[in-house]
Amino acid sequence: MTNDHSGLHHRSIRKFSAAPSLAQQRALEDVAQATASSNFLQQVTLIKVTDPQKRQQIADLTNCPFVAGDGLLYVFVLDQHRNIETAHLTEDQAAHFTGWAGFFGGVADAELAAQNVLAEAERSGLGGCFLGSVLNDPRQMIALLALPRFTFPVLGLMVGVPAEAPQQKPRLPHSAVVGENTYPAAQDLKDYDTTLNNYYRTRAWNAREETFTDSLLAYTKTDLHHRLEIGQILREQGFHLPQ
Ligand SMILES: Cc1cc2nc3c(=O)[nH]c(=O)nc-3n(C[C@H](O)[C@H](O)[C@H](O)COP(=O)(O)O)c2cc1C
Repeated sequence: MTNDHSGLHHRSIRKFSAAPSLAQQRALEDVAQATASSNFLQQVTLIKVTDPQKRQQIADLTNCPFVAGDGLLYVFVLDQHRNIETAHLTEDQAAHFTGWAGFFGGVADAELAAQNVLAEAERSGLGGCFLGSVLNDPRQMIALLALPRFTFPVLGLMVGVPAEAPQQKPRLPHSAVVGENTYPAAQDLKDYDTTLNNYYRTRAWNAREETFTDSLLAYTKTDLHHRLEIGQILREQGFHLPQ
């Protein structure tokens, strides 16, 4: 057994000098497909966004200008459409796919595939950054990508040849995050606040005074854009997620 700790070197990359080569793209897409799949229903579709106009629109709606630049954008789409079509299911028969079970299965498939692609990219010398901010305006994403009923855009991933080498962000202490048999005992996270503040204060990019506690409070004031409508948008896409 060899110990591959390359996952410990992860950091998000938001500046690229080039997109992955076509061969690299195919390798990343094959890895997405090789990922474990809930009930082996293969409930994910990848959309590669190469059209500069669409990329600019997605950069605007995600508030991530780098999405319009070099690199490649993948959107990981929760997809029950293909399965429902393949088996010619009626809306009633499709309930397993369009209810909570299908929703969570599809989100799991999409997110695991996305993380597997990023890990493969990082092992290959590429870098990337997830874009949960595609959820800022799911209706616009659905229209831009011509997503059919029973699908939903879960997560974006910009990937490419890194043109920056950011410092790693310090994580919470192991004991705060890992419990054995039961939830971990409450921890005093003051030291972690200091560690993270030191990182933010001294980093090369966007240096600022901020602790972890500060960022939790700041998050409560962020603009959620259209995210509060996600329940309604899922209904418009054909999902039935009762309370
Ligand atoms: C589900 C998910 C969604 C994310 N969405 C965004 C995003 O929309 N824009 C962005 O710049 N970074 C995004 N990120 C990256 C996080 O900001 C980043 O992982 C975090 O700050 C930790 O930094 P690191 O990845 O460099 O360790 C996302 C990460 C995850 C896991």
